[in-house]
Amino acid sequence: MKKIAVLGGGQLGLMMIRSAIDFNIEVAVLDPNPEAPCAKHAAYFEVGDLNDFDTVYNFGKKFELITIEIEQVNTKALHKLSNEGIEVYPQPHIIEMIQDKRIQKQFYEKHNIPTSPFILTDSLEDILTKSDFLPAVNKIGKGGYDGKGVQIMRNAEDLKKGFDAPGLMEKLIDFQKEIAVIVARNKKGEIKAFPPVELVFHPTANLVEFLLAPAQISVEISKKAIEIATNLTENLSVIGLLAVEMFVTKEGEVLVNEIAPRTHNSGHQSIESNMTSQFEQHLRAILNWPLGDTSLIISSAMINLLGEEGHIGPAICEGLEDVLKVNGCHMHLYGKKITKPFRKMGHVTVRDKDINELKNKIDFVKKTIKFISNE
Ligand SMILES: Nc1ncnc2c1ncn2[C@@H]1O[C@H](COP(=O)(O)OP(=O)(O)OP(=O)(O)O)[C@@H](O)[C@H]1O
Ligand SMILES: [Mg+2]
Repeated sequence: MKKIAVLGGGQLGLMMIRSAIDFNIEVAVLDPNPEAPCAKHAAYFEVGDLNDFDTVYNFGKKFELITIEIEQVNTKALHKLSNEGIEVYPQPHIIEMIQDKRIQKQFYEKHNIPTSPFILTDSLEDILTKSDFLPAVNKIGKGGYDGKGVQIMRNAEDLKKGFDAPGLMEKLIDFQKEIAVIVARNKKGEIKAFPPVELVFHPTANLVEFLLAPAQISVEISKKAIEIATNLTENLSVIGLLAVEMFVTKEGEVLVNEIAPRTHNSGHQSIESNMTSQFEQHLRAILNWPLGDTSLIISSAMINLLGEEGHIGPAICEGLEDVLKVNGCHMHLYGKKITKPFRKMGHVTVRDKDINELKNKIDFVKKTIKFISNE
């Protein structure tokens, strides 16, 4: 029986386990949280710090193939494991580059990948001198996720909200839409992209509220986005998945925002609405198997179920049964015991041939299901 080791045991790992079961692959997971979503479902689960060299090395050396579901991991240990002949996908140097938004942006610049103009910043003191670069977005170089580590700056007063750490400022893009394309590449160099999806952000929380597949964009913009994402994957020679988040500007330009070398929130709906899911595709890619057909079978939407504001404590899911009555609805509960404001507790995929009907279903799910706590 094949075995795969995964660093990180969150919902992305959980959905990867579902695909692994279909291939009769055993999944071993390392995560610091003993109650992580994968804890009960992995064939082997170890509790440990993903950023600690010894923990990652000692976990990894027991296996022949290692992958990640989060990029905040100890890459020194991964380099050592890779040098010792263990297959590590995505390759450690790619994870390292993606851990630092400064290096990511410099990579786009060097390879002529369209992206928003930027400057590097070292500290808050440095940021305070950059009022001529406004309006801008200040991003922390390392450690940001789900919009934490991103600060929008429109006027000189906003500069004070900057991060006192190495980071960057990029021009604020007045975009028309945010889209994402997930590309897979195997060791043989076979490449396949999923059709672009459209990300609709929560108005205040700075994270994806729902997404639409396919993105409501022209064929021309779709082609451009797929071409950019495919070029990036080729440039980096990624083995596994590369998720590419992009902005479509009002002028129809496509700019790369950021990339992630792993399964991604923007591909969840592929489980129910594409010929091959992103999770299966990731396994095919890292196993050097033929890549699956990425075509969309039916239009769909993925709604993130976020913890309600004002509720912290043991999670209660309200409205589940009402949502299950919706035709073409599929529920994914991540099994997180504690809810917190905007914590990703699960998601719902809804499908419909008709885009307006799909939008009605999104509205219904959004207003019906809630993660709260009584404590
Ligand atoms: N240059 C920009 N112009 C306008 N909006 C931006 C810009 N950069 C980021 N944003 C907004 O902030 C969001 C979060 O930024 P980014 O994707 O870089 O951060 P993140 O925390 O790594 O995100 P996540 O983990 O949610 O993917 C973007 O999806 C977009 O809505
Ligand atoms: Mg992002």
